[in-house]
Amino acid sequence: MRAESTEALGIDLADPRHYEHDAARNLFARLRGERPIWWSPQADGRGFWSVLRYRDIVTVSKNPRLFSSARGLGGHRIHDETEVEITQGLEASMLSMDPPEHNTYRGMVSPAFTAERIRRLEASIHARVTALLDRIAPSGGCEFVSSVAAELPIQVIAELLGVPQEDRLRLFEWSNALVGEDDPDMRRSEEHIRQCTKDMGAYALKLWRERLRRPGDDLVSMLVGTEADGEGMSVPRYFATFFLLVIAGNESVRNTISGGLLALSQYPEQRRKLVEQPALIPQAVKELVRWVSPFLHMRRTATEDTELAGQHIARGDKVVLWYLSANFDEEVFEQPERFDVTRTGPQHLSFGQGQHFCLGWRLAELQLTVLFQELLRRFPDIEPHGPVRRVRSNFVRGIKEMPVRFTPER
Ligand code: HEM
Repeated sequence: MRAESTEALGIDLADPRHYEHDAARNLFARLRGERPIWWSPQADGRGFWSVLRYRDIVTVSKNPRLFSSARGLGGHRIHDETEVEITQGLEASMLSMDPPEHNTYRGMVSPAFTAERIRRLEASIHARVTALLDRIAPSGGCEFVSSVAAELPIQVIAELLGVPQEDRLRLFEWSNALVGEDDPDMRRSEEHIRQCTKDMGAYALKLWRERLRRPGDDLVSMLVGTEADGEGMSVPRYFATFFLLVIAGNESVRNTISGGLLALSQYPEQRRKLVEQPALIPQAVKELVRWVSPFLHMRRTATEDTELAGQHIARGDKVVLWYLSANFDEEVFEQPERFDVTRTGPQHLSFGQGQHFCLGWRLAELQLTVLFQELLRRFPDIEPHGPVRRVRSNFVRGIKEMPVRFTPER
Protein backbone atom coordinates (compact mmCIF):
# COMPACT_ATOMS: atom_id res chain seq x y z
CA MET A 1 0.00 0.00 0.00
CA ARG A 2 2.82 2.41 0.83
CA ALA A 3 4.87 1.64 -2.26
CA GLU A 4 1.85 1.70 -4.58
CA SER A 5 0.61 5.17 -3.69
CA THR A 6 4.02 6.80 -3.75
CA GLU A 7 5.28 5.19 -6.89
CA ALA A 8 2.13 6.28 -8.65
CA LEU A 9 2.91 9.91 -7.92
CA GLY A 10 6.67 9.60 -7.63
CA ILE A 11 7.13 12.38 -5.08
CA ASP A 12 10.07 12.22 -2.71
CA LEU A 13 9.75 14.91 -0.05
CA ALA A 14 13.38 14.41 0.98
CA ASP A 15 14.54 15.74 -2.39
CA PRO A 16 16.24 19.08 -1.55
CA ARG A 17 15.45 20.50 -4.99
CA HIS A 18 11.80 21.03 -3.99
CA TYR A 19 12.99 23.55 -1.42
CA GLU A 20 15.84 25.05 -3.42
CA HIS A 21 13.33 26.00 -6.11
CA ASP A 22 10.73 27.03 -3.54
CA ALA A 23 8.19 24.61 -4.99
CA ALA A 24 7.26 22.86 -1.75
CA ARG A 25 4.30 24.96 -0.62
CA ASN A 26 2.21 23.96 -3.64
CA LEU A 27 3.29 20.37 -3.32
CA PHE A 28 2.38 20.25 0.36
CA ALA A 29 -1.02 21.86 -0.29
CA ARG A 30 -1.85 19.16 -2.79
CA LEU A 31 -0.70 16.34 -0.54
CA ARG A 32 -2.52 17.71 2.54
CA GLY A 33 -5.76 17.34 0.63
CA GLU A 34 -5.00 13.93 -0.84
CA ARG A 35 -2.94 12.04 1.71
CA PRO A 36 -1.87 14.05 4.74
CA ILE A 37 0.30 11.24 6.11
CA TRP A 38 2.54 10.59 3.19
CA TRP A 39 5.08 7.82 2.64
CA SER A 40 8.36 8.47 0.78
CA PRO A 41 10.45 5.36 0.06
CA GLN A 42 14.21 5.89 0.20
CA ALA A 43 17.12 4.19 -1.51
CA ASP A 44 18.37 2.72 1.79
CA GLY A 45 15.15 0.70 2.03
CA ARG A 46 13.93 2.77 5.00
CA GLY A 47 11.42 5.32 3.89
CA PHE A 48 9.72 7.89 6.07
CA TRP A 49 6.27 9.19 6.87
CA SER A 50 5.57 12.86 6.28
CA VAL A 51 3.08 14.52 8.62
CA LEU A 52 1.57 17.45 6.78
CA ARG A 53 -1.39 18.73 8.80
CA TYR A 54 -1.15 21.12 11.74
CA ARG A 55 -3.28 19.00 14.05
CA ASP A 56 -1.30 15.79 13.36
CA ILE A 57 2.03 17.54 13.97
CA VAL A 58 0.70 18.77 17.32
CA THR A 59 -0.43 15.23 18.23
CA VAL A 60 2.99 13.76 17.43
CA SER A 61 4.95 16.57 19.12
CA LYS A 62 2.99 16.17 22.33
CA ASN A 63 3.54 12.43 22.58
CA PRO A 64 7.26 11.75 23.02
CA ARG A 65 6.60 8.27 24.45
CA LEU A 66 5.15 7.09 21.13
CA PHE A 67 7.13 9.43 18.88
CA SER A 68 10.66 9.69 20.14
CA SER A 69 13.35 12.29 19.35
CA ALA A 70 16.16 10.05 20.64
CA ARG A 71 19.38 9.79 18.80
CA GLY A 72 19.55 6.06 19.48
CA LEU A 73 16.56 5.80 17.13
CA GLY A 74 18.12 8.04 14.50
CA GLY A 75 17.87 11.66 15.68
CA HIS A 76 15.93 14.68 14.49
CA ARG A 77 16.72 14.76 10.74
CA ILE A 78 15.19 12.68 7.92
CA HIS A 79 18.34 10.67 7.51
CA ASP A 80 19.84 9.08 10.58
CA GLU A 81 22.73 10.82 12.33
CA THR A 82 25.63 10.88 9.90
CA GLU A 83 28.72 8.77 9.94
CA VAL A 84 30.72 11.94 10.68
CA GLU A 85 28.67 12.72 13.80
CA ILE A 86 29.04 9.19 15.06
CA THR A 87 32.72 8.67 14.27
CA GLN A 88 33.59 12.03 15.82
CA GLY A 89 31.92 10.88 19.00
CA LEU A 90 29.41 13.70 19.21
CA GLU A 91 26.88 13.10 21.96
CA ALA A 92 23.22 13.83 21.44
CA SER A 93 22.03 17.32 22.27
CA MET A 94 18.75 17.95 24.09
CA LEU A 95 17.07 18.13 20.69
CA SER A 96 17.66 14.39 20.31
CA MET A 97 16.57 13.34 23.80
CA ASP A 98 13.33 12.20 25.38
CA PRO A 99 12.08 12.71 28.93
CA PRO A 100 13.26 12.40 31.61
CA GLU A 101 16.81 12.99 30.29
CA HIS A 102 15.56 15.82 28.07
CA ASN A 103 14.09 17.70 31.04
CA THR A 104 17.42 17.55 32.87
CA TYR A 105 19.48 18.97 30.02
CA ARG A 106 16.90 21.55 28.96
CA GLY A 107 16.78 22.66 32.59
CA MET A 108 20.53 23.32 32.52
CA VAL A 109 20.31 25.67 29.54
CA SER A 110 16.92 27.33 29.97
CA PRO A 111 17.98 29.88 32.66
CA ALA A 112 19.92 31.69 29.90
CA PHE A 113 16.70 32.24 27.92
CA THR A 114 14.28 33.69 30.47
CA ALA A 115 12.31 36.80 29.50
CA GLU A 116 14.42 38.88 31.85
CA ARG A 117 17.78 37.70 30.47
CA ILE A 118 16.69 38.20 26.89
CA ARG A 119 15.40 41.70 27.67
CA ARG A 120 18.86 42.57 28.95
CA LEU A 121 20.27 41.85 25.46
CA GLU A 122 18.05 44.42 23.77
CA ALA A 123 20.43 47.39 24.00
CA SER A 124 23.34 45.44 22.58
CA ILE A 125 21.18 43.99 19.76
CA HIS A 126 20.12 47.53 18.95
CA ALA A 127 23.73 48.71 18.85
CA ARG A 128 24.71 45.77 16.62
CA VAL A 129 21.87 46.46 14.18
CA THR A 130 22.80 50.16 14.04
CA ALA A 131 26.45 49.34 13.32
CA LEU A 132 25.53 46.87 10.56
CA LEU A 133 23.17 49.32 8.89
CA ASP A 134 25.65 52.21 9.25
CA ARG A 135 28.11 50.14 7.29
CA ILE A 136 25.79 49.64 4.29
CA ALA A 137 24.00 53.04 4.50
CA PRO A 138 26.13 55.15 2.11
CA SER A 139 26.39 52.50 -0.60
CA GLY A 140 22.77 52.20 -1.78
CA GLY A 141 23.21 48.45 -2.24
CA CYS A 142 24.85 45.32 -0.86
CA GLU A 143 24.68 41.54 -0.72
CA PHE A 144 22.13 41.41 2.07
CA VAL A 145 22.75 37.90 3.46
CA SER A 146 26.44 38.31 4.19
CA SER A 147 26.22 42.01 5.14
CA VAL A 148 23.20 41.93 7.45
CA ALA A 149 21.09 38.75 7.70
CA ALA A 150 23.93 36.42 8.61
CA GLU A 151 25.90 38.91 10.66
CA LEU A 152 23.32 39.82 13.28
CA PRO A 153 22.49 36.33 14.64
CA ILE A 154 26.10 35.18 14.57
CA GLN A 155 27.21 38.28 16.49
CA VAL A 156 24.42 37.76 19.01
CA ILE A 157 25.15 34.07 19.53
CA ALA A 158 28.86 34.86 19.90
CA GLU A 159 28.00 37.40 22.60
CA LEU A 160 25.70 34.94 24.36
CA LEU A 161 28.37 32.23 24.40
CA GLY A 162 31.17 34.63 25.29
CA VAL A 163 33.02 33.93 22.03
CA PRO A 164 35.25 36.85 20.95
CA GLN A 165 33.61 38.65 18.00
CA GLU A 166 36.70 38.18 15.83
CA ASP A 167 36.05 34.40 15.91
CA ARG A 168 32.43 34.65 14.84
CA LEU A 169 33.10 33.84 11.18
CA ARG A 170 34.52 30.50 12.24
CA LEU A 171 31.24 29.69 14.02
CA PHE A 172 29.45 30.76 10.86
CA GLU A 173 31.43 28.42 8.62
CA TRP A 174 31.03 25.47 11.02
CA SER A 175 27.32 25.99 11.33
CA ASN A 176 26.86 26.15 7.54
CA ALA A 177 28.86 22.99 7.02
CA LEU A 178 26.86 21.10 9.66
CA VAL A 179 23.43 21.82 8.19
CA GLY A 180 24.38 22.26 4.54
CA GLU A 181 25.09 18.68 3.52
CA ASP A 182 23.16 18.94 0.25
CA ASP A 183 24.57 22.28 -0.82
CA PRO A 184 28.10 22.22 -2.26
CA ASP A 185 28.56 25.92 -1.42
CA MET A 186 28.06 25.15 2.27
CA ARG A 187 29.63 21.74 2.74
CA ARG A 188 32.44 21.37 0.29
CA SER A 189 33.26 17.68 0.99
CA GLU A 190 33.16 14.97 3.64
CA GLU A 191 36.69 16.00 4.54
CA HIS A 192 35.53 19.60 5.02
CA ILE A 193 32.76 18.62 7.47
CA ARG A 194 35.11 16.28 9.33
CA GLN A 195 37.58 19.14 9.74
CA CYS A 196 34.84 21.60 10.74
CA THR A 197 33.50 19.25 13.42
CA LYS A 198 37.00 18.69 14.76
CA ASP A 199 37.86 22.39 14.82
CA MET A 200 34.57 23.33 16.42
CA GLY A 201 35.04 20.69 19.12
CA ALA A 202 38.57 21.92 19.85
CA TYR A 203 37.32 25.49 19.97
CA ALA A 204 34.48 24.63 22.34
CA LEU A 205 36.88 22.75 24.61
CA LYS A 206 39.30 25.69 24.77
CA LEU A 207 36.42 27.93 25.78
CA TRP A 208 35.28 25.45 28.44
CA ARG A 209 38.78 25.32 29.97
CA GLU A 210 39.06 29.11 30.00
CA ARG A 211 35.69 29.47 31.74
CA LEU A 212 36.62 26.82 34.29
CA ARG A 213 39.59 28.99 35.25
CA ARG A 214 37.87 32.35 34.88
CA PRO A 215 34.06 32.24 34.79
CA GLY A 216 32.21 35.20 33.29
CA ASP A 217 28.59 36.18 32.72
CA ASP A 218 28.14 34.14 29.54
CA LEU A 219 26.33 30.97 28.61
CA VAL A 220 29.44 28.78 28.51
CA SER A 221 30.34 29.84 32.07
CA MET A 222 26.79 28.97 33.06
CA LEU A 223 27.10 25.50 31.50
CA VAL A 224 30.48 24.89 33.16
CA GLY A 225 28.99 25.61 36.56
CA THR A 226 25.52 24.14 36.10
CA GLU A 227 23.92 21.29 37.94
CA ALA A 228 20.49 19.70 37.60
CA ASP A 229 19.12 16.71 39.50
CA GLY A 230 22.51 16.42 41.24
CA GLU A 231 24.32 16.09 37.91
CA GLY A 232 26.76 18.49 36.30
CA MET A 233 27.16 18.86 32.55
CA SER A 234 29.71 16.43 31.10
CA VAL A 235 32.17 17.76 28.51
CA PRO A 236 30.68 15.65 25.66
CA ARG A 237 27.19 16.90 26.55
CA TYR A 238 28.54 20.44 26.62
CA PHE A 239 29.93 19.95 23.08
CA ALA A 240 26.51 18.85 21.90
CA THR A 241 24.88 21.88 23.52
CA PHE A 242 27.46 24.25 22.04
CA PHE A 243 26.89 22.80 18.55
CA LEU A 244 23.11 22.98 18.96
CA LEU A 245 23.13 26.62 20.07
CA VAL A 246 25.42 27.72 17.27
CA ILE A 247 23.28 26.04 14.63
CA ALA A 248 19.83 26.73 16.07
CA GLY A 249 20.63 30.34 16.89
CA ASN A 250 22.22 31.16 13.60
CA GLU A 251 20.59 29.56 10.57
CA SER A 252 17.01 30.20 11.65
CA VAL A 253 17.24 33.92 12.38
CA ARG A 254 19.40 34.57 9.33
CA ASN A 255 16.91 32.94 7.02
CA THR A 256 13.95 34.72 8.58
CA ILE A 257 15.65 38.09 8.11
CA SER A 258 16.40 37.45 4.43
CA GLY A 259 13.14 35.58 3.71
CA GLY A 260 11.21 38.26 5.63
CA LEU A 261 12.67 41.07 3.56
CA LEU A 262 11.92 39.14 0.38
CA ALA A 263 8.26 38.68 1.44
CA LEU A 264 7.91 42.37 2.33
CA SER A 265 9.24 43.26 -1.11
CA GLN A 266 6.85 40.89 -2.84
CA TYR A 267 3.90 42.41 -0.95
CA PRO A 268 4.57 46.17 -0.99
CA GLU A 269 1.22 47.04 0.62
CA GLN A 270 2.23 44.96 3.65
CA ARG A 271 5.60 46.69 3.84
CA ARG A 272 3.87 50.06 3.65
CA LYS A 273 1.84 49.20 6.75
CA LEU A 274 5.02 48.52 8.71
CA VAL A 275 6.79 51.62 7.44
CA GLU A 276 3.79 53.77 8.42
CA GLN A 277 3.05 51.97 11.71
CA PRO A 278 6.28 50.53 13.15
CA ALA A 279 4.38 49.58 16.31
CA LEU A 280 2.97 46.68 14.27
CA ILE A 281 6.42 45.13 13.86
CA PRO A 282 6.58 42.94 17.01
CA GLN A 283 3.35 41.20 15.90
CA ALA A 284 4.37 41.17 12.23
CA VAL A 285 7.49 39.23 13.12
CA LYS A 286 5.27 36.23 13.95
CA GLU A 287 3.85 36.34 10.43
CA LEU A 288 7.38 36.50 9.01
CA VAL A 289 8.38 33.41 10.99
CA ARG A 290 5.23 31.58 9.80
CA TRP A 291 5.78 32.63 6.21
CA VAL A 292 9.45 31.71 6.09
CA SER A 293 9.26 28.52 8.24
CA PRO A 294 13.07 28.56 8.47
CA PHE A 295 13.37 24.97 9.72
CA LEU A 296 11.42 22.87 7.26
CA HIS A 297 11.09 19.86 9.51
CA MET A 298 12.11 17.92 12.60
CA ARG A 299 11.78 14.18 12.91
CA ARG A 300 10.53 11.57 15.38
CA THR A 301 10.68 7.74 15.39
CA ALA A 302 7.69 5.56 16.33
CA THR A 303 8.44 3.48 19.42
CA GLU A 304 5.43 1.14 18.94
CA ASP A 305 2.98 0.15 16.23
CA THR A 306 0.38 2.88 16.23
CA GLU A 307 -2.08 4.86 14.15
CA LEU A 308 -1.96 8.49 13.11
CA ALA A 309 -4.94 10.07 11.36
CA GLY A 310 -6.09 6.60 10.36
CA GLN A 311 -2.71 5.61 8.93
CA HIS A 312 -0.92 2.60 10.43
CA ILE A 313 2.63 3.49 11.52
CA ALA A 314 4.97 0.61 12.38
CA ARG A 315 7.37 0.55 15.30
CA GLY A 316 10.72 1.98 14.15
CA ASP A 317 9.21 4.03 11.30
CA LYS A 318 10.53 7.55 10.79
CA VAL A 319 7.94 10.28 11.19
CA VAL A 320 8.84 13.69 9.73
CA LEU A 321 6.99 16.83 10.85
CA TRP A 322 6.83 19.37 8.01
CA TYR A 323 6.38 22.76 9.68
CA LEU A 324 6.22 24.56 6.34
CA SER A 325 3.13 22.50 5.48
CA ALA A 326 1.42 22.98 8.87
CA ASN A 327 1.98 26.74 8.68
CA PHE A 328 -0.12 26.89 5.52
CA ASP A 329 -2.79 24.43 6.65
CA GLU A 330 -6.15 25.81 5.50
CA GLU A 331 -7.89 23.95 8.36
CA VAL A 332 -6.16 26.25 10.84
CA PHE A 333 -5.16 29.52 9.14
CA GLU A 334 -7.64 31.78 7.43
CA GLN A 335 -6.43 32.28 3.87
CA PRO A 336 -2.99 30.86 4.66
CA GLU A 337 -1.56 31.94 1.32
CA ARG A 338 -2.19 35.57 2.19
CA PHE A 339 0.87 37.28 3.68
CA ASP A 340 -0.66 39.53 6.32
CA VAL A 341 1.54 41.42 8.78
CA THR A 342 -1.48 42.12 11.00
CA ARG A 343 -2.45 38.44 11.23
CA THR A 344 -3.43 37.23 14.71
CA GLY A 345 -4.95 33.89 15.66
CA PRO A 346 -3.39 30.45 15.86
CA GLN A 347 0.31 30.25 16.63
CA HIS A 348 2.49 29.06 13.74
CA LEU A 349 4.45 25.84 14.25
CA SER A 350 7.86 27.17 13.15
CA PHE A 351 9.09 27.01 16.75
CA GLY A 352 7.76 23.45 17.15
CA GLN A 353 5.36 22.38 19.85
CA GLY A 354 5.47 20.44 23.11
CA GLN A 355 8.53 19.70 25.22
CA HIS A 356 11.09 20.66 22.55
CA PHE A 357 9.41 24.01 21.84
CA CYS A 358 12.18 26.35 20.74
CA LEU A 359 14.17 27.60 23.70
CA GLY A 360 15.42 30.60 21.73
CA TRP A 361 12.07 31.97 20.51
CA ARG A 362 12.25 35.16 22.57
CA LEU A 363 15.76 35.87 21.39
CA ALA A 364 14.74 35.22 17.79
CA GLU A 365 11.70 37.52 17.96
CA LEU A 366 13.70 40.26 19.66
CA GLN A 367 16.41 40.24 16.97
CA LEU A 368 13.83 40.24 14.20
CA THR A 369 11.85 43.07 15.78
CA VAL A 370 14.83 45.36 16.30
CA LEU A 371 16.26 44.58 12.87
CA PHE A 372 13.04 45.26 10.93
CA GLN A 373 12.25 48.38 12.96
CA GLU A 374 15.61 49.91 12.10
CA LEU A 375 15.83 48.56 8.55
CA LEU A 376 12.42 49.88 7.50
CA ARG A 377 12.91 53.19 9.30
CA ARG A 378 16.22 53.89 7.58
CA PHE A 379 15.70 52.16 4.23
CA PRO A 380 11.96 52.05 3.59
CA ASP A 381 12.51 51.24 -0.09
CA ILE A 382 15.07 48.44 0.33
CA GLU A 383 14.37 45.60 -2.11
CA PRO A 384 16.08 42.66 -3.83
CA HIS A 385 17.92 43.66 -6.95
CA GLY A 386 19.32 40.62 -8.73
CA PRO A 387 18.97 36.87 -8.47
CA VAL A 388 17.98 35.36 -5.10
CA ARG A 389 19.84 32.07 -4.49
CA ARG A 390 18.24 29.59 -2.12
CA VAL A 391 20.02 26.91 -0.11
CA ARG A 392 19.73 23.37 -1.44
CA SER A 393 18.42 21.63 1.66
CA ASN A 394 15.40 19.73 2.92
CA PHE A 395 16.09 20.99 6.46
CA VAL A 396 16.62 24.75 6.34
CA ARG A 397 14.53 27.01 4.15
CA GLY A 398 17.32 29.41 3.44
CA ILE A 399 18.63 32.10 1.17
CA LYS A 400 22.36 32.19 0.57
CA GLU A 401 22.57 35.25 -1.66
CA MET A 402 20.28 38.23 -2.16
CA PRO A 403 21.60 41.47 -3.63
CA VAL A 404 19.54 44.49 -2.53
CA ARG A 405 19.34 48.18 -3.38
CA PHE A 406 17.95 51.17 -1.49
CA THR A 407 18.17 54.93 -1.37
CA PRO A 408 21.52 55.61 0.32
CA GLU A 409 21.72 57.70 3.48
CA ARG A 410 23.65 60.91 3.24
C1 HEM B 1 13.22 32.01 13.85
C2 HEM B 1 14.07 31.41 14.63
C3 HEM B 1 13.99 30.01 15.16
C4 HEM B 1 13.21 28.96 14.75
C5 HEM B 1 12.19 28.93 13.62
C6 HEM B 1 13.52 27.84 15.62
C7 HEM B 1 12.91 26.59 15.52
C8 HEM B 1 13.05 25.58 16.45
C9 HEM B 1 12.30 24.33 16.45
C10 HEM B 1 11.28 23.92 15.38
C11 HEM B 1 12.67 23.62 17.53
C12 HEM B 1 12.01 22.33 18.03
C13 HEM B 1 12.57 21.04 17.56
C14 HEM B 1 11.74 19.82 17.85
O1 HEM B 1 10.56 19.87 18.24
O2 HEM B 1 12.29 18.74 17.62
C15 HEM B 1 13.70 24.39 18.20
C16 HEM B 1 14.37 23.98 19.33
C17 HEM B 1 15.42 24.68 19.87
N1 HEM B 1 15.85 25.95 19.54
FE1 HEM B 1 15.08 27.13 18.10
N2 HEM B 1 14.48 28.23 16.50
C18 HEM B 1 14.80 29.54 16.27
C19 HEM B 1 15.73 30.31 16.95
C20 HEM B 1 16.50 29.86 17.98
C21 HEM B 1 17.50 30.64 18.67
C22 HEM B 1 17.85 32.09 18.37
C23 HEM B 1 18.06 29.81 19.60
C24 HEM B 1 19.16 30.07 20.59
C25 HEM B 1 20.18 30.80 20.45
C26 HEM B 1 17.37 28.53 19.54
C27 HEM B 1 17.63 27.45 20.34
C28 HEM B 1 16.90 26.27 20.34
C29 HEM B 1 17.17 25.17 21.25
C30 HEM B 1 18.26 25.13 22.30
C31 HEM B 1 16.24 24.17 20.94
C32 HEM B 1 16.11 22.78 21.60
C33 HEM B 1 14.98 22.74 22.56
C34 HEM B 1 14.71 21.35 23.09
O3 HEM B 1 15.09 20.36 22.46
O4 HEM B 1 14.12 21.27 24.17
N3 HEM B 1 16.45 28.60 18.54
N4 HEM B 1 13.89 25.58 17.54
